Amino acid sequence: MGKVAVGIVVVCGMAVAAAAAVVVHRRMKKSGKWVKAMEIVKDFEIKCSTPISRLRQVCDAMIVEMHAGLASEGGSKLKMLISYVDSLPTGKEKGLFYALDLGGTNFRVLRLQLGGKGHGILNQQFVEVSIPPSLMTGDSSDALFDFIVAKLAKFIAQEGLDFKTTPGRQRELGFTFSFPVVQTSIASGTLLKWTKGFSINEAVGRDVVAELTKAMERHGLDMRVSALVNDTVGTLAGGRFANKDVVAAVILGTGSNAAYVERASAIPKWHGPLPRSGEMVINMEWGNFKSAHLPLSEYDLEMDADSLNPGDQIYEKVMSGMYLGEIVRRVLSWLAQEAAFFGDTVPPKLKVPFILGTPAISAMHQDTTPDLKVVTNHIKDIFEISNTSLKMRKVIVQICSIVATRGARLSAAGVLSILRKMGRDTIKEGEKHRTVIAMDGGLYEHYTKYRKCLENCLNELLGKDVFETIVLELSSDGSGIGAAILAASHSKYLGSDDD
Ligand code: BGC
Repeated sequence: MGKVAVGIVVVCGMAVAAAAAVVVHRRMKKSGKWVKAMEIVKDFEIKCSTPISRLRQVCDAMIVEMHAGLASEGGSKLKMLISYVDSLPTGKEKGLFYALDLGGTNFRVLRLQLGGKGHGILNQQFVEVSIPPSLMTGDSSDALFDFIVAKLAKFIAQEGLDFKTTPGRQRELGFTFSFPVVQTSIASGTLLKWTKGFSINEAVGRDVVAELTKAMERHGLDMRVSALVNDTVGTLAGGRFANKDVVAAVILGTGSNAAYVERASAIPKWHGPLPRSGEMVINMEWGNFKSAHLPLSEYDLEMDADSLNPGDQIYEKVMSGMYLGEIVRRVLSWLAQEAAFFGDTVPPKLKVPFILGTPAISAMHQDTTPDLKVVTNHIKDIFEISNTSLKMRKVIVQICSIVATRGARLSAAGVLSILRKMGRDTIKEGEKHRTVIAMDGGLYEHYTKYRKCLENCLNELLGKDVFETIVLELSSDGSGIGAAILAASHSKYLGSDDD
């Protein structure tokens, strides 16, 4: 009996909400607000459009910046940082190595047992820890590194006897630090600036390996950093360990960036001796790319102005996971304000920055239910708005689609720039090579429509024959694995007896 009564209440509740939605919708139509709302969406769509001709301009502009960034330090918004990785893993790496992967709200500690030639990874274990937001934007670099090292020390204290190191030998660590760093060697580098919501001023200009090492000393942790790598470089190294055709890596996650293998002789700003391999991995820091050809709307410009790093990371801000949901929120908020899209008052939650995450827009965009139930639920749970009509929900999906499509197509233009720079965007007579790009990041991994759109766009840009020679290979968590492998190939004990 009780259950029936609840059922009736629920059904009544739904009927009331549906009726309210129809009322809002009719009132909007009558007052011309719906027309206004549609104009706003159309205008946004036009401002975000990415026809192939525009993507080619973006690609051309990026290649110009790539050359400028390689010519001199600070020569371009595109940093084109020298990674000091001049030889990629061969598969012969052997021993017990660690990685610390820091680049977002969570960090990972990883232990890898490498078996040597033909044996690959014998054992792998990790922990993931979330960073208290106050440490990401605090005043103290020590506070952040102390927090991280305490977890690292705990991980090591808890490991079994199987993982004890040889007496007299330090544990070695690959440090994946996914922010722009000018390296001075494979195991040192100065932080240029923070991105992705981090902002600890005193750390800027400091050597991040020295900061980590000091924290390890404070915790009595006997460990040495033998490689400092960006996540793109780690992903490239991890990808190459598994597949010898990997020549570049792209991260599409909270932030975005790419790395690729460059000819050392094509890097004028490299003044050291030419590496034996003749190659050098370049961390592009493509997130900081900016060009008049990028399709930007007022919502993007306002989001940038309100961000912790205004004027920076513009390319990243229109295509990476941290920002896509926020752009959609800004459009919805404007619709509410200017076209009473959600009724006479603006629902207060619509005004909260970053309340709408990219996983939510991915779920709404990919909603396959006939009445867009997933959209109903997300809009209700996140914004506390329950009076949406199906027509309104379709508009919400359209806005998610506009934002994700622009992001995915712009990232395809970035991939094309790398392929062109490497001469892999055409098939030369008699040459038959496969080009594999290791891809990582939650956006690429979980937002299927985004990933498909990127691939389709790359196909459009390259043409079918060349596209068939290109493989975008998901390399989940490759950045930590790659860093541990690079720690192995840069171990100070290489060539020692027990190596
Ligand atoms: C950082 C890069 C990083 C990328 C992906 C960007 O914000 O500047 O160093 O590779 O995010 O994590």
